Amino acid sequence: MRLSLAWLLAFLASLHGSLGVTLNVNDTTSVHNATALIAEGLLDYYTGLQPGNAIGMFSNPYYWWEAGGAWGSILDYWWYTGNDTFNGILKQALLAQTGDNNDYVPLNQSVTEGNDDQAFWGLAVMAAAERNFENPADDEPQWLYLAQAVFNTMALRWDDDTCGGGLRWQIFTWNSGYDYKNTVSNGALFHIAARLARYTGNQSYADWAEKVFDWMKGINLLEEGGNNFVFDGANVENNCSNVTKLIWTYNQGLLMSGSAYLYNFTEDEVWHTRTWEFLNSSSIFFNNSVLYEVTCQGGNTCNTDQRSFKAYYSRFLGLTAQLVPGARDKIMDWIRTSAQGAAQSCSGGTDGHTCGLNWFYEGWDGKWGLGEQMAALEIMQNVLCLDRPAPYTHDTGGTSLGNGAAGTETQPTNLAPLNITTGSRAGGGIITAVIGLSIVACTVWLVL
Ligand SMILES: *[C@@H]1O[C@H](CO)[C@@H](O)[C@H](O)[C@H]1NC(C)=O
Ligand SMILES: *[C@@H]1O[C@H](CO)[C@@H](O)[C@H](O)[C@H]1NC(C)=O
Ligand SMILES: *[C@@H]1O[C@H](CO)[C@@H](O)[C@H](O)[C@H]1NC(C)=O
Ligand SMILES: *[C@@H]1O[C@H](CO)[C@@H](O)[C@H](O)[C@H]1NC(C)=O
Ligand SMILES: *[C@@H]1O[C@H](CO)[C@@H](O)[C@H](O)[C@H]1NC(C)=O
Ligand SMILES: *[C@@H]1O[C@H](CO)[C@@H](O)[C@H](O)[C@H]1NC(C)=O
Ligand SMILES: *[C@@H]1O[C@H](CO)[C@@H](O)[C@H](O)[C@H]1NC(C)=O
Ligand SMILES: *[C@@H]1O[C@H](CO)[C@@H](O)[C@H](O)[C@H]1NC(C)=O
Ligand SMILES: *[C@@H]1O[C@H](CO)[C@@H](O)[C@H](O)[C@H]1NC(C)=O
Ligand SMILES: *[C@@H]1O[C@H](CO)[C@@H](O)[C@H](O)[C@H]1NC(C)=O
Repeated sequence: MRLSLAWLLAFLASLHGSLGVTLNVNDTTSVHNATALIAEGLLDYYTGLQPGNAIGMFSNPYYWWEAGGAWGSILDYWWYTGNDTFNGILKQALLAQTGDNNDYVPLNQSVTEGNDDQAFWGLAVMAAAERNFENPADDEPQWLYLAQAVFNTMALRWDDDTCGGGLRWQIFTWNSGYDYKNTVSNGALFHIAARLARYTGNQSYADWAEKVFDWMKGINLLEEGGNNFVFDGANVENNCSNVTKLIWTYNQGLLMSGSAYLYNFTEDEVWHTRTWEFLNSSSIFFNNSVLYEVTCQGGNTCNTDQRSFKAYYSRFLGLTAQLVPGARDKIMDWIRTSAQGAAQSCSGGTDGHTCGLNWFYEGWDGKWGLGEQMAALEIMQNVLCLDRPAPYTHDTGGTSLGNGAAGTETQPTNLAPLNITTGSRAGGGIITAVIGLSIVACTVWLVL
């Protein structure tokens, strides 16, 4: 009902030639005004404050992981615009979902939670540490501690038994996808390790990042020479020899910006070259400098998750521009042009500024959702990325406290097999099967 009404009103608005959100990328106030509207629209999907709902969670059908992604975008919103309207609910949300072990593996998500899901909350708290976001009270876990706990518990799942290493997609054996070693899980481990290395100065994290990178390259998840594409993953069944060659913006971005962090930390030319390789090969995701999800957008098959991928890629582009000065001109051209496209797509819905999926479609393309809103917000606020300091480290302004052993200090009870009912196990299987199907759908589209 809400959908069709929104559609109708947007359709009427489009008849009146609505131009979307007004954005002048050269005018900071214009970016502030425009992003404020988009951010409000994003939080329309937040149901955590309604009675009986879980703090930190968004409405159906948005999974727990995407909530972690969305809070990361709200953190960016504060950081890039200086608008702290949502900081209270942001802090409350980040602290509500840490789980008993303070590592973002809450028991009530074990039906679906994979390594990649945990990592997206890890990215949000890592950024909170790097931006010196208001520290939690002393008796609560701190941002850096939480990011380290995510890293440590993920690293503990490193699996040498198949494929010579790597993380499996799933944490829990009962979830389908347990036999798949995917790039977003491993790429996120690499990326978080790189950020922890730079923030703490602890070389162990850089060593881990290198180990993950080498493993990914070794099994050809990262294409050698030529295109430098980042592929989706590989099944353990045949020792990861059969790589699923789908490309996604967020995987490309995790590797690109992780390399940028390592270059900025080590000043090693190898990481500079790798940053540039991922940046150059990103051009596959741009149409006349306007960002799009090439694997599913044209075929109109992007699922709920995939509609949010451009948000993280936009975020990672901004971080790369901050950390690798030589890349700024190229990146800012992409960000500004894409932001302009995104803004003009934000002319749908009852509020008149609901954002669409396709940013080179003239006007709103009729798509809407948390992913669309988040992606438009991230690309628009990253127009300001060079006006704000690069991520802090513990030496340059970061005050968050951590612990190298975070997440491993107590028995990780959350990793023990649970008394899970057949019902929820089946549910997990169905959910993963739906995701699997959409991957197949995309493959079919690609082949066609
Ligand atoms: C923004 O400024 C650049 C020069 O810095 C200019 O090329 C571009 O046309 C301007 N864009 C708008 C929308 O004014
Ligand atoms: C931003 O919004 C304020 C308050 O609505 C308005 O006065 C101002 O003209 C706007 N500025 C721009 C550049 O859009
Ligand atoms: C801050 O953000 C809120 C929510 O998006 C918005 O209503 C408000 O106008 C913004 N304030 C300024 C100064 O832009
Ligand atoms: C899951 O558990 C966390 C505590 O770990 C709680 O804050 C949250 O509300 C619960 N989520 C749901 C959906 O019940
Ligand atoms: C499986 O792949 C890894 C990484 O490429 C390799 O080191 C290992 O020898 C392979 N094992 C078998 C049994 O082929
Ligand atoms: C490789 O995986 C694809 C699907 O991901 C499957 O269709 C194909 O049969 C597999 N090839 C081999 C040699 O296992
Ligand atoms: C990236 O592309 C630029 C040209 O746009 C080229 O000069 C540079 O060598 C490329 N870098 C890498 C590492 O491929
Ligand atoms: C690129 O954008 C133009 C509109 O600006 C559109 O006509 C064209 O189909 C797009 N190309 C792809 C590959 O989507
Ligand atoms: C690392 O990032 C900082 C902050 O943007 C920048 O000033 C510095 O030049 C970068 N270091 C390298 C080696 O590029
Ligand atoms: C450095 O990081 C490693 C890996 O997480 C950890 O085991 C070690 O305690 C850390 N060292 C310090 C001095 O924090």
